[in-house]
Amino acid sequence: MSASPNQHLAVGEPLHGVDAVVLVGGKGTRLRPLTLSAPKPMLPTAGVPFLTHLLSRIRAAGITHVVLGTSYKAEVFAEHFGDGSALGLELEYVVEEEPLDTGGAIRNVADRLRADDVMIFNGDILSGVDLPAVLGTHREANADVTLHLVKVPDPRRFGCVPTDAEGRVTAFLEKTDNPPTDQINAGCYVFRRPVVESIPVGRPVSVERETFPGLLESGARLQGHVDASYWLDLGTPAAFVQGSADLVRGIAPSAALPGPAGQAIVLDGARVRDDVELTGGTTVGTNCMIGNGSRIDGSVLFDGAVIGSEAVVERCVIGASAKIGDGTVLRDVVIGDGAVIGAGCELVDGARVWPGVELPDGAVRFSSDC
Ligand code: GTP
Repeated sequence: MSASPNQHLAVGEPLHGVDAVVLVGGKGTRLRPLTLSAPKPMLPTAGVPFLTHLLSRIRAAGITHVVLGTSYKAEVFAEHFGDGSALGLELEYVVEEEPLDTGGAIRNVADRLRADDVMIFNGDILSGVDLPAVLGTHREANADVTLHLVKVPDPRRFGCVPTDAEGRVTAFLEKTDNPPTDQINAGCYVFRRPVVESIPVGRPVSVERETFPGLLESGARLQGHVDASYWLDLGTPAAFVQGSADLVRGIAPSAALPGPAGQAIVLDGARVRDDVELTGGTTVGTNCMIGNGSRIDGSVLFDGAVIGSEAVVERCVIGASAKIGDGTVLRDVVIGDGAVIGAGCELVDGARVWPGVELPDGAVRFSSDC
């Protein structure tokens, strides 16, 4: 095996000869109603669109050419990131008229790839994985595909990916009550370019359910890169809130935080009364207002949200320009853009309020949608 320039990569060493592809075309149904107005990777997370954190990590690893595979609300990405030069990147966009699923989306960008190896990222994963180390594993194993794998405390909720003593993937297993391993697919891969080109064209393909099992079946070398770095899939409201709070507190790594890590980030133009408590990695968006004596913990307030006096907001997302009345208590809920919650309300345990809905004073909601 001939040694390539990046074969033995040290931490922090720049990655040359690698393209990046980020999959950002999903509808983000689990995060509705937040994703009705913006695709999941564009939701404000610790003060910037989530994708900014990921792109900054890709750039910090030394990759400059990045292709975004878009579908749902495709235009929003180019409007915000343009040619990528503000982040030191050369960004390209490839739009799917009909969503092609993860594998189809990878195939759909094949003609934009320039390098022999391509790093592929799900656009909704917050991770501290050492990208040069993943590529190093790929090249040392001379793999066709290398998958970042993480160990999770409860693998029953996920499909599992066992590996042998050399780290070679031996199976892709569906969710089961007795998983033989705690390793799961972390949504970050290295593909050799010919493998990308082998995916069927022009139809939806799931990389997890079709491409990977098919490659294994055909005898391809699939390598696992297991590590213990920070990892979180931001697909659900609870995970989104946690990921944002971890970024604000500096627990999750990012080169794109708009302020120093700490208990809260307050963006320009927000007006917060002196006695307001902001804790747990809260983000207060531009032009938000928070009244006397309120307590906001581990929450994300999108731009222009207004919180009255003596309110309690814990682990919530408050949509853009939503209004929360005096004395209202919100725990683990999502409030859509422009919704109005009256005074003295109590909403808890996963309740979701759709954009523009108005709830009268004193309303109580548990785990329900309105
Ligand atoms: P849910 O509807 O809540 O499951 O979210 P999702 O649509 O984002 O699906 P999922 O979390 O399984 O997607 C994982 C990653 O793949 C995300 O970054 C998605 O944006 C992306 N993705 C999913 N489907 C497609 C698709 O059809 N095309 C493209 N380009 N990306 C996709």
